Amino acid sequence: MTTELHEIGEIPSPHMTPRRMYASVIRRERYGAPSTAFRTEVVDVPPIGPDQVLVMVMAAGVNYNNVWAALGSPVDVIGQRQKNGQPEDYHIGGSDASGVVWAVGSRVRTVAAGNHVIVSSCQWDESAADIRLGADPIASTTQSVWGYESNYGSFAQFTAVYEYQCHPKPPHLSWEEAAAFLLTGATAYRQLRGWPPHTVQPGDPVLIWGGAGGLGCMAIQLAALFGGIPIAVVSSGDRAEFCLGLGAKGVIDRTEFDHWGPLPDPDHPDATARWTAGVRAFGKRIWEAVGERRGPRIVFEHPGQDTMPTSMYVCDNAGMVVICGATSGYQAQVDLRFLWMRQKRLQGSHYANLRQCRAVVHLVGTGRVDPCLSWTGRFEQTGEAHQMLCDNQQPPGNLAVLVNAPAPGMTELR
Ligand SMILES: NC(=O)c1ccc[n+]([C@@H]2O[C@H](COP(=O)([O-])OP(=O)(O)OC[C@H]3O[C@@H](n4cnc5c(N)ncnc54)[C@H](OP(=O)(O)O)[C@@H]3O)[C@@H](O)[C@H]2O)c1
Repeated sequence: MTTELHEIGEIPSPHMTPRRMYASVIRRERYGAPSTAFRTEVVDVPPIGPDQVLVMVMAAGVNYNNVWAALGSPVDVIGQRQKNGQPEDYHIGGSDASGVVWAVGSRVRTVAAGNHVIVSSCQWDESAADIRLGADPIASTTQSVWGYESNYGSFAQFTAVYEYQCHPKPPHLSWEEAAAFLLTGATAYRQLRGWPPHTVQPGDPVLIWGGAGGLGCMAIQLAALFGGIPIAVVSSGDRAEFCLGLGAKGVIDRTEFDHWGPLPDPDHPDATARWTAGVRAFGKRIWEAVGERRGPRIVFEHPGQDTMPTSMYVCDNAGMVVICGATSGYQAQVDLRFLWMRQKRLQGSHYANLRQCRAVVHLVGTGRVDPCLSWTGRFEQTGEAHQMLCDNQQPPGNLAVLVNAPAPGMTELR
């Protein structure tokens, strides 16, 4: 049965699927500052295919990818989809959700209406040739990120996802806690556990950029859990305290250094000397934090352009710089001499496969990793939340907005 529309925070009667829904929508003509790019509109509830599930979203996690979507750069996600033949001239972002399965397609077997779920954000074609030949689905040519590359993400009352994206919600987590951690947690998990032999081992120093950010707060906890020595980089005293509280062995304030950005021109010895002094002083701070003259076996990268030259320099011989993002720009420089002479590894990493997602749900569900929810907003604050991320003004940890959950702290439907 269908109804027309229900208000945010009002749960519809079971088996009633509204025809229309509220969504926080980005349009091409609003591309720019996230605070104004997102606007609440009423749109049609998306239809589901036979392998899909309609989830009523209770809360949505806020991630950096929809800062990029709002800016319309470096990818115009709406234009890109239209080029691929999709009709919608709007984007509903949101790549993290907790919610209730509301309806299922004819071929869905593993979840049923009424299940409480957390939604992971990677989608792929399960019948793709590369997956059938054994590829990790996250590396499939068919892989895309729900609520960023694909439409109908979690910043709406309902979302259409594939059955395999649904994970059981740990019952004791509030809707907003359950929505906040999976994208950052699973991405960090793959970076730290997914690239053997460079998986965190007991005693390994791990340098974590943006330790108080969404990825960083999960990476500190995971590195510590697996016996590593997390050293966090931050830009303020309160962020440093937060990282120490999560288990970082040491913290470095990056504002005390100024050698960031591109490598110096090798034809300018003074600039090279200044850069080298800066990066060595930074490396010395890592040794002090570790307690011995040992560089990080793993450097957990995501700022990109500003930090990559430093990451490659300070990484231990035969260590790995593992990168999943480029907040400060994607045209980073690498001094190849460090790469080959010191036999370092530069590894790209993107989100996570289902086994890695489930591992993180398990670690959070069993209380071994904290979801680090630091801020819960109202649905209308979706743009504001992304603006905080864009301006690097967010409180330490992960952020979420309530969608259909009427109040924070609720673990059940009512
Ligand atoms: N590929 C994937 O699957 C994937 C998944 C998640 C995220 N990402 C990407 O990874 C990046 C970080 O995501 P997040 O969720 O952790 O974002 P976040 O919560 O905004 O945290 C990023 C942290 O990076 C630090 N930072 C910002 N600019 C920096 C700079 N120029 N140099 C050094 N540090 C800087 C900031 O910490 P301080 O100012 O305290 O140093 C900030 O807290 C984003 O670009 C995002 O798109 C990719």
